[in-house]
Amino acid sequence: MADPLFAVKNLSKTFPNGNQVLSGVNLTIYEGECLIIAGSNGSGKTLLMQVITGLADFDEGEILFRGCPLHKSIRVLRRSVGFMFQDADAQIIGETVAEDIAFGPKNLGLPNDAVAAQVEAALSAAGLEEKRDFPPRRLSGGEKRRLAVAGILAMGCGAMIMDEPFANLDWHGVIQALEHIRRLKAEGKTLIILTHELEKVLAYSDRLVILHRGHIRDDGNPSEVLDRLDPSFGVRDPRASYASVEDCTWLTA
Ligand SMILES: Nc1ncnc2c1ncn2[C@@H]1O[C@H](COP(=O)(O)OP(=O)(O)OP(=O)(O)O)[C@@H](O)[C@H]1O
Ligand SMILES: [Mg+2]
Repeated sequence: MADPLFAVKNLSKTFPNGNQVLSGVNLTIYEGECLIIAGSNGSGKTLLMQVITGLADFDEGEILFRGCPLHKSIRVLRRSVGFMFQDADAQIIGETVAEDIAFGPKNLGLPNDAVAAQVEAALSAAGLEEKRDFPPRRLSGGEKRRLAVAGILAMGCGAMIMDEPFANLDWHGVIQALEHIRRLKAEGKTLIILTHELEKVLAYSDRLVILHRGHIRDDGNPSEVLDRLDPSFGVRDPRASYASVEDCTWLTA
């Protein structure tokens, strides 16, 4: 059995307006697995990821990162876990596309030539070579998502959280994103993917978690979770259109 990357115990969060958005969440995420978290709008997926990465606070419970309490391991976490935000605008830092991608590897303390090499590889992998000197805020919605993918690829982290990685992407963008996911999985990286688009990516998942109104309502083998899916969770079984979980990808080869 792999070591836990994150261990979340009895985690709850209520906003000051009384909105309880996470409720008694227990979740262990193991090194090297590809975990997909699905759930309807507002079910708490993004917030759960923000909390476990120290970007949002919580009221009750415990979060361990590689066995250490979060507040003691936050520096290591920042270097080890790439987070592709659902809101691409919130992640833009650089004045140009290339500068934006360089931010992560520079922060990791890589030497300049290594940063440059990482940026080139990420620009090419994300199909953004022609936009290298372009101001990121003027990119289209889908180009900003590609930029976010490039940013986390350039960091070369061992674990990545992708929040709605296919949102706004055209068909080629989806294929590229899936190729990254397939390659990263083959390299043994930990992947945590939050998505409504199970039909595009479920084939690469090891485990499916269903979050509903801040509660984890199911967690396990993707086929088995889908077999017992309650329609009220707002998640569509992609096997309505695809023969099996293994067929749920847009990659053909
Ligand atoms: N500051 C806040 N005060 C009160 N409620 C909040 C606040 N911020 C977020 N929420 C609520 O937290 C809930 C969970 O939001 P979250 O963004 O995690 O949902 P999600 O599952 O990622 O949804 P989506 O599929 O739309 O991305 C939502 O109902 C949201 O309205
Ligand atoms: Mg979200």
